[in-house]
Amino acid sequence: MPDIMANSSVGSSPQSGVSSRERSAGASDSAGLRPDRFDRDGQDQLVDVHDLQAALPGIRRLRTWAHDALAVRPGESAVDIGSGTGSEALVFADAVGPSGTAVGVEPDPGLLAAAERRAQQHHSTAKFVSGDAYGLPFGSDTFDAALCERVFQHLTGPARAAGEIARVLKPGGRVVVMDSDWGTAIVHPGDRHVVHEVIETMIAGTTNPFAGRRLAGQLTAAGLVVDDIGSHALVQDTGVGAGALVTRIAEMAVARGAITEQQRDQLLADLAAGAASGDAHLSVTIFAVSAHKPA
Ligand SMILES: C[S@@+](CC[C@H](N)C(=O)[O-])C[C@H]1O[C@@H](n2cnc3c(N)ncnc32)[C@H](O)[C@@H]1O
Repeated sequence: MPDIMANSSVGSSPQSGVSSRERSAGASDSAGLRPDRFDRDGQDQLVDVHDLQAALPGIRRLRTWAHDALAVRPGESAVDIGSGTGSEALVFADAVGPSGTAVGVEPDPGLLAAAERRAQQHHSTAKFVSGDAYGLPFGSDTFDAALCERVFQHLTGPARAAGEIARVLKPGGRVVVMDSDWGTAIVHPGDRHVVHEVIETMIAGTTNPFAGRRLAGQLTAAGLVVDDIGSHALVQDTGVGAGALVTRIAEMAVARGAITEQQRDQLLADLAAGAASGDAHLSVTIFAVSAHKPA
């Protein structure tokens, strides 16, 4: 499943004026486990997880959709908010060319450093700055285009982030915000009650679990005009590690008393049997909203 391990601790941004709790908040379950935190030391592993997720066909297709919707042109300025390892800022840099500006904003120092390294390796003009979505380090009316991918699910104040996006866009500027909605998660096969409790555990441990369905409303409330909504289901390849991720969430469900150890073991056995026979499905749907700032 996507993003279960995707978010690391988020650094502070002096200009944002929000507490560290608000900035990087995530609900903890009763055992103190959090699904949206990477729980092993080592930024390399965090970068690997981002790369693994970026390779998922659903992510690739939705990114193509996003870049088509933004249609960034040479000479324009574009920003990727919560830019992670920087891949999309590099795409922006190619699109805007030498006369334009492409920048990624990222609060995590390890990801920021990885993005800068990659920009150098690719001889890209993309720039990366430390900052967070609650207080973007740019003046008003700065960008022609903005992207914010799989960040809102980590925010306690997504409406505030939407307001910041609206602020930094130029009149007529375009934005795509995309995120998952854990109300769409499917875990198959497995006892329906147990599966329900495991998904509820995921929802309980995610800061903004229904981010996907709220994007259009939040962008509208921020004064932007929604132009289109796209979606793709992120279907996990059950051959590469889905078992480990589900095991982790099922473990959290046991820890919070939602299912028994026996139910957990049965679920994992059902999933292993399903994977072996080709009858397994793990997915969550990501929604992407394209909008513009009225001229
Ligand atoms: C799943 S990753 C997505 C990264 C990148 N957008 C991508 O699609 O590859 C989530 C990103 O959100 C960032 N993030 C978390 N809280 C943030 C905040 N308050 N402001 C900006 N970015 C934030 C994380 O550091 C991380 O880079």
